[in-house]
Amino acid sequence: MRDHNFLTEMNARHLWHPMAHPGEMQATPPKIITEAAGVRIRDMDGHETIDAVGGLWNVNLGYSCEPIKTAIADQLARLPYYSAFKGTTNDAAIELSVKLAEMFGPDGMSRAFFTSGGSDSVDTALKFARQYHRLRGEGTRTKFIALRKGYHGTHWGGASVNGNPLFREPYEPLLPGCFHVPSPYPYRNPFDEADPERLAHLCLKALEAEIEMQVPSTVAAFIMEPVQGAGGVIVPHESFMPGVREICDRHGVLLIADEVITGFGRTGHVSGSRHWGVRPDLMCLAKAITSGYFPMGAVLAGDRLAEVFEGERGAMIGTGYTYSGHPVGCAAALACLEETERLAVWDRAAAIGARLKAGLEGLRRHEAVGDVRSEGMMCALEIVSDRAARTMDPARAGRIYEATYKAGVMVRWSGSNLVMSPPLILSEDDADRIVAALDEGLSAAG
Ligand SMILES: Cc1ncc(COP(=O)(O)O)c(C=O)c1O
Repeated sequence: MRDHNFLTEMNARHLWHPMAHPGEMQATPPKIITEAAGVRIRDMDGHETIDAVGGLWNVNLGYSCEPIKTAIADQLARLPYYSAFKGTTNDAAIELSVKLAEMFGPDGMSRAFFTSGGSDSVDTALKFARQYHRLRGEGTRTKFIALRKGYHGTHWGGASVNGNPLFREPYEPLLPGCFHVPSPYPYRNPFDEADPERLAHLCLKALEAEIEMQVPSTVAAFIMEPVQGAGGVIVPHESFMPGVREICDRHGVLLIADEVITGFGRTGHVSGSRHWGVRPDLMCLAKAITSGYFPMGAVLAGDRLAEVFEGERGAMIGTGYTYSGHPVGCAAALACLEETERLAVWDRAAAIGARLKAGLEGLRRHEAVGDVRSEGMMCALEIVSDRAARTMDPARAGRIYEATYKAGVMVRWSGSNLVMSPPLILSEDDADRIVAALDEGLSAAG
């Protein structure tokens, strides 16, 4: 490997990074990660940390999952690629569709369509929603409604339903016909309502008002993350998603669950929808489907869509990707999901997540911690400069992030939030180490 200075220099000169300013690469170079094992990563300087980010919310099984590595190598040797466009398919893709139908059957899902990642899954689900209505003779239903602070990837459809101006403004104008309603975020909301249940009620009323304002016969779908991830780990009250389902049903609007982060155990259940006792119409998956070992995603559909797409009024699916059903990705996913089930990672996420939550709650003793949020193994600390005024302090969050890294733990610095989504195989000791390193980081830089 070339030396650190050379790679930093070349990175600044030749490599543009997602969600980063290309002109700042020299002044604030990224950490160059060179090795990983278990739940730990190592940078070019040999500094080892617990990866409390789990890659990017995706490495649920850690970095040493031999069954996935073996499955990838075996599949590469046998059949490195074949297309799943009309006329051909491959055995790994078929096996994976069966596995997903089994895993997500309790969520009402029975059909799988494969993609290369989360953004693909979201855009595909939005298209399926429109096509469903069109096939049923309700082609006027073209609009989408989403939550503010939601994140749904970066393709045009996903960017258009995203609820964060940072990812929208540079690329305006986006898809017409996308509308946003308040997120059930007790710490900051337009109603100044801190009680999660009352807030959920207000947000549901706002959603229904928006559907009525748009006229229900023009609305195709509502899309939401069961727990908002990139928006800062926003955990809705348990009444929220069931309430959404009920409103959608009343107005003939499809419910798309964006489970790109919450799918496969992160909230303590197989899916985030199941966590809230809701069956969506479409489910977007990616990330932990291969634990990050191969770029892969899926859209799942239930009987309601299957009846229309496969029935008398059905028609060709006019969307897809060269790598839809990539055999290596499907083999990686199959091995990953077998391990995910064998280890029952959802139970671990619930148990270790509870321990992590208790530890993080203790960090409220630091003045800089304005809010602590978590569900299963999705956690965030919101860093403020003034507790009473809840003033966001991204610069301080950045300093705490660096100090926590020095103390042996990588967290994700996102605006004024420090976010965690560790591998679900995390041990109790490592959960305690994450809290201890944040404590040290907060003392040093908070
Ligand atoms: C909820 C959600 N949807 C969609 C995406 C987009 O996934 P990808 O980055 O794989 O395109 C993400 C990525 O973080 C996500 O969190």
